[in-house]
Amino acid sequence: MREMALTTRSAQQTRTMGERLGALLQPGDVILLSGGLGVGKTTFTKGVAAGLQIREEVTSPTFTLVAEYEGRIPLVHMDLYRLYEAQGEADGTALTSAVEHALQAIGFADYLEGDAALLIEWPEAVRDLVADALSIEMVAQPLPRVDERVLHCTTTGWRSLNLLDEWVKRWLF
Ligand SMILES: Nc1ncnc2c1ncn2[C@@H]1O[C@H](COP(=O)(O)OP(=O)(O)O)[C@@H](O)[C@H]1O
Ligand SMILES: [Mg+2]
Repeated sequence: MREMALTTRSAQQTRTMGERLGALLQPGDVILLSGGLGVGKTTFTKGVAAGLQIREEVTSPTFTLVAEYEGRIPLVHMDLYRLYEAQGEADGTALTSAVEHALQAIGFADYLEGDAALLIEWPEAVRDLVADALSIEMVAQPLPRVDERVLHCTTTGWRSLNLLDEWVKRWLF
């Protein structure tokens, strides 16, 4: 497991970081992307999509929970925010049966076995279901650093560790 904090100073820089990560993604890679509303998750995700050579515009699949895009490899984009509505909060870690049902309904387990890379926003409900993932938590910074975000990255297996290493190399050098 590795932990690393990356700083971005503009929305454009965040997009570029996403783009460089997208260029590296392989089928089976999983990114768990968390952070508050307005912190830049969609900005980052659009970059990832660009890096995967996806032409279609990527928006948040808030009502469908999941959307799939064709690119160099397929990208499955999930936004699980709505899963937590019943619980009344968006950061609950308990897998209630309602959440389990919803995950079954979208075929979550199948996506993990598929030929796509996965990017999951509001991932708390599935964090324990994914053995090897790159977690990125985006955190806004105090005034006056309004355009600054810190990306706290952690890995949980070899695949994500290698991915983070390659990404950081391309970002820093
Ligand atoms: N460093 C930065 N990274 C990402 N977005 C930034 C940054 N600085 C300012 N912003 C702005 O913050 C907003 C992020 O919006 P969005 O990506 O939709 O957030 P989220 O999907 O997390 O709700 C955009 O208006 C963007 O221009
Ligand atoms: Mg968003």
